[in-house]
Amino acid sequence: MNIAIVGTGYVGLVSGACFSEMGVDVTCVDIDTEKIARLNAGEIPIYEPGLRELVCRNVEAGRLHFVTSLAECLDNVEVVFSAVGTPPDEDGGADLSYVLDVARTFGRHINRYTLLVTKSTVPVGTAAKIKAEIAARLAERGVDIDFEVASNPEFLKEGAAIKDFMSPDRVVVGVESERAKAVMTKLYRPFLTNNFRVYFMDIPSAEMTKYAANAMLATRISFMNDIANLCDRVGADVNMVRKGIGTDARIGGKFLYSGCGYGGSCFPKDVKALARTARENGCVMRVVEAVEATNEAQKKVVFEKLSSALGTELAGMTVAVWGLAFKPETDDMREAPSLVVIESLVAAGSIVRVYDPVAMAECCRRLGDGCSLPGDGRIEYASDMYDAALGAGALLLLTEWKQFRMPSWPVLRRVMTNPLIVDGRNIYDRSEVESEGFIYYGIGR
Ligand code: UGA
Repeated sequence: MNIAIVGTGYVGLVSGACFSEMGVDVTCVDIDTEKIARLNAGEIPIYEPGLRELVCRNVEAGRLHFVTSLAECLDNVEVVFSAVGTPPDEDGGADLSYVLDVARTFGRHINRYTLLVTKSTVPVGTAAKIKAEIAARLAERGVDIDFEVASNPEFLKEGAAIKDFMSPDRVVVGVESERAKAVMTKLYRPFLTNNFRVYFMDIPSAEMTKYAANAMLATRISFMNDIANLCDRVGADVNMVRKGIGTDARIGGKFLYSGCGYGGSCFPKDVKALARTARENGCVMRVVEAVEATNEAQKKVVFEKLSSALGTELAGMTVAVWGLAFKPETDDMREAPSLVVIESLVAAGSIVRVYDPVAMAECCRRLGDGCSLPGDGRIEYASDMYDAALGAGALLLLTEWKQFRMPSWPVLRRVMTNPLIVDGRNIYDRSEVESEGFIYYGIGR
């Protein structure tokens, strides 16, 4: 089977590599010529465990190709997946211009029945717009070519993307015909395991499922952050509360970790877009809107704790930051809590010494030495985690990378000028840290 995947971001590249691993001939398309040149040279533009090996293996086997023109490969493929970005527009909605560009190219150049499958996260109703766009282009050409659209939202997590794609909990596919259903069944059959199901449904339901899933997960996090903030005030421990409720099978234990707020390219954008779609359709999603507001406030909690402990001392003080990425196993800093914390520190006049195992270059690209941020502080890039703590009056843990989980407390105690830790991910044991002579602040403990 021959397919094309447009967009070589996380979703497109991972999907392409995984489909090709199963024997499908995959052409990955991206308008970014530099990116395609890098991919053809074996360079993977993102950090994702296992991806490089998977891509290289399949390129070598001749099943995975990287090109810049969708038009040129359309004659050779049965299915086109659209995995281009849907960045937030000014009003918090999803910007569909890339998605509709793909539809236009598709309509201008197909010459036989082809299925266009949307993997990008798009608001309910987008498939109808895509269809209209294609039909208009075919009408312009004066041809009557059979085509279909389908919706196949992706649920993979950055950092665990290959595992998620190779053995998904479920695959959701919105289709309009038995023909499209048969094509999608054939494509996903190699991924079938005992527990794995393809759920076929109508297209609007498939589009909605994606937003509902992300909004539900984000809701769990914001809810637990609310509980944590109250735990702080009443002397309860949110970790205990999490265990206490997570063992109820109806609630379940996953995605209940409170911390310094969720980030990434998906939850913040999708929660906003869902609330926006609701308003456009004449209803207000009060819970979803509160999830977003709660998260914005939560990103400030680490700095607030630090500031209430040290106040004006923060001006001129060195503050160590461990973790810049929005979560471990990625260099992605989109909407990362670290951005909010660093901005507040620079505004307070601190010297922020940052360290992250993979996101240092990304932070440097975004913030540089911090001079462009308002405030007298600045950012320094440390060579390792202990170097970050050198001369620091406080240490902030913002991303729970494995290497931060068991630090040498005596070394930290020696290099820091003041033994204060704000654990934005609740990974440390308070009594252990305090017995090493540190002042410890967690989130909700
Ligand atoms: C999320 C979803 O989990 C995927 O299913 C979905 O496919 C993806 O968005 C998407 O829409 O493309 P991702 O953004 O990669 O995946 O990251 P997650 O692992 O879900 O983490 C999101 C954020 O929530 C992180 O900042 C993480 O630190 C935070 N989080 C997660 C918590 O604060 N507490 C938790 O209990 C879990």
